[in-house]
Parts: sequence; C-alpha cells; structure tokens
Amino acid sequence: MLRIVILPGDGIGPEIVEQARACLVMLSEQCDLRLEFEERDFGGIAIDRHGTPLPDETLEACRSADAVLLGAVGGPKWDGAAERPEAGLLKLRAGLGLFANLRPARVLRGLRHLSPLKDEVADGADILVVRELTGGAYFGEKSYSDDFASDTSVYTRAEIERIAHVAFAAARRRKKKVTSVDKANVLATSKLWRLVVNEVARGYPDVALDHLYVDAAAMALVTSPRRFDVILTENLFGDILSDELAVIGGSIGTLPSASLGAGGPALFEPIHGSAPDIAGLDIANPAGTISAAAIMLGHLGHSDMESLLVDAVENTLVDGCRTADLGGSDTCSEFGAETRQRLKEGISAREAHLELIAMNRGCCG
Ligand code: NAD
Ligand code: IPM
Ligand code: MN
Repeated sequence: MLRIVILPGDGIGPEIVEQARACLVMLSEQCDLRLEFEERDFGGIAIDRHGTPLPDETLEACRSADAVLLGAVGGPKWDGAAERPEAGLLKLRAGLGLFANLRPARVLRGLRHLSPLKDEVADGADILVVRELTGGAYFGEKSYSDDFASDTSVYTRAEIERIAHVAFAAARRRKKKVTSVDKANVLATSKLWRLVVNEVARGYPDVALDHLYVDAAAMALVTSPRRFDVILTENLFGDILSDELAVIGGSIGTLPSASLGAGGPALFEPIHGSAPDIAGLDIANPAGTISAAAIMLGHLGHSDMESLLVDAVENTLVDGCRTADLGGSDTCSEFGAETRQRLKEGISAREAHLELIAMNRGCCG
C-alpha cells in the first residue's frame, strides 16, 4: 500500500487536485496498484483553520508519506498575513529536503498550433528545467523595514554539486546536453555556480555542457527552444524561466513538476499557482496536475501506470478537449472525465495485451 498525502491548497487547487485524485483512484481500483489517500490542510486554508500555512501535523503526515500531491497555495485573501501561504510552501520544501525541482515541457505532437510560437520554432521543443529549490535568494537572510529591505543569495559548493549531478544524470537519459544558466558576469553566487558546474561536468564526458547568462537564456527559450535539452539553474532563475517555458506548449495549465530530495517522500505539483482569477469556476486546466500525478506514479516504481496516465492526458488534448486557457470551452471536470475515459480504454488495452502474453506463454512454455 502506498500512502499519498494530498494537499489541495487554495484557489483552483482543490478543483485540479480532485481530477488528478479521481484518475489515481481509477488506476488503484482497476490495476495492480494500491493507493491510500490522506488529505491535509496547507497554505491559506491552513492559515484560516490553524493560524499557520504549514501545521506540524501536515508536515509530519508528508514526512511519513510515500509521496505528496499538491494543488497550489496563495491568494489575495492572505496578502497581508503575518506568514503568507507561500512561506508554508518554502518550509515544506526545506522540511522535506526537496532540493531538486524537475519541470519538463514539450510541444505535443498534433498540438503545435496551441503554442504562441511559430510552428517551425516550436516544433520538437522538449526541455527539462532542473531548478535548485532550497537555496539562493529564497532562503538567504532577509531584512525589511519601510525604508530598507534586503535579500541575501547564498550558494555553497555542496548545494551546487548535488543539483548539477541531478541535471547531468537526467541529461544522460535524454539528449545528453546541459545548458547551465547563471548571471556569472555580475553575481558572485553565479561565478561559483559556473566553476562547480564545470567541475561536475568532467564526470559526465558523454554529456555536452554550455553556459548562458539568464537574460540571453530568457530570449533563446522563445527564439530557439530546440537548442535546449536540460536547463540547469538556480532557484530564482528557475522559477522565472519555467513560467516562460510553460507558454511554449500553449498554457501554464499543462505543466507538471516533481520536487525530489535525497530519498524520502517527493512532492508533485503543477508549476502554476492558485489562479485566484478563475478559482471556483470549474474552468481551470487540470492537465498539469494530472501529469504531476503521473510522474509521481513513475517515481513510486509504476512506470507502466505513469505511461497510461500520460497517454490519457495527451490523447484528451489531441482529441480536441480544451479548457479556456487553450482557447476551448471544456470545463475542468469535463477534461478530467475525458481523461479518465481514455485512461479506462488504456487500462483495457493493457489488460488485453497482458492476457495475450499469458496465453502465448501457456501455449509455448
Ligand atoms: P498563477 O500561476 O496562479 O496564474 C497566472 C495566470 O495563469 C492567471 O491568469 C491564471 O488564471 C492562469 N492559470 C494558472 N494556472 C492555470 C490553470 N491550471 N488553468 C488555466 N489557467 C491557469 O500565478 P499568479 O496569479 O502570479 O499567482 C496566484 C497565487 O498563486 C499567488 O498567491 C502566488 O504566490 C501563488 N503561486 C503558488 C504556486 C504554488 O503553490 N506552487 C505557484 C505559483 C504561484
Ligand atoms: C513555484 C511558485 C513558488 C516559487 C512560490 C509560490 C513560492 O512560484 O512553485 O513556481 O517561487 O517557487
Ligand atoms: Mn513559479
């Protein structure tokens, strides 16, 4: 039995997570997969109910889970809160030691026209952003007064080494190219970043490495996305570039992310936020969250289930089911239902295939 902690969060979080959970329930009921779900308060809703965005019992439940599935947190209601919902997310990432954030994006076959980029630019783009997640300006010392404010960005050699290894190892399973993105012409942390990344690269002679400054990378992402395979970058640059990356495929609503540590439970979530502007309307795109749930299954050792769910989401899109962010009029729950219909078909096809293999074994062996 695998125990999944679900953190629906705020805004569209509960709506999109519900669609992902229903897909997981279907797989759990119809396949050889046992999942158990436990829902916990996190983010703004936890501030309302417990006075803090990350209650101790939520963190403990996550720590003892096999994996965590998150919707999104935050919203204007908590803008003035002493501790914002987003602070809870940073504490959760730090608390679970989730230093590596993987954000894959590609332009799907048959869906090039959803990209705002020209077909010939977008066609074939397939990028993995490996974002360092527990260092940099997000976690350095801060000060604030009405006249003066400061953020400190800190990176140690060890922090850069471990995230660089994640990126090079991922590139080995892809097109064997890492582009390290920094601001080494200005920032001390970036100077160390570049030095250490070059050193780690020596252990991966089969992987090509190049470096780009973050301003140039922001431009190249939309002028020539195909030049990238794995982008390795620090926390803040990774946050910004991954939202830009999200647009290449058509909408931020479609992109998943996985946050991993050195063992222990990992966290899976869409890369977008709580989208307060469309919350409660059942029009959000749940594809990113369902895809995050798929990656979670692969991470838990069920790569066949991951493929079934990834295929179901892609086929739903290719067949023309579209939420408003992709120019369509299908609702969040309709997209989820369509995905589950295709998932059901995928499960049946897999069963038929497995039966055939068993029959052949029976005949021949
Ligand atoms: P956002 O990602 O929530 O929304 C940006 C735009 O994208 C909005 O127009 C929104 O409607 C649209 N959008 C986002 N997800 C969508 C989806 N699934 N389907 C259709 N459209 C979608 O970013 P924001 O507005 O800058 O932030 C809103 C709140 O979310 C803030 O409090 C922010 O801090 C928080 N946030 C949380 C996370 C997280 O929990 N991981 C991530 C990013 C932002
Ligand atoms: C993300 C979000 C978070 C981040 C915020 C909500 C703290 O934008 O997951 O991309 O900046 O990491
Ligand atoms: Mn972000």
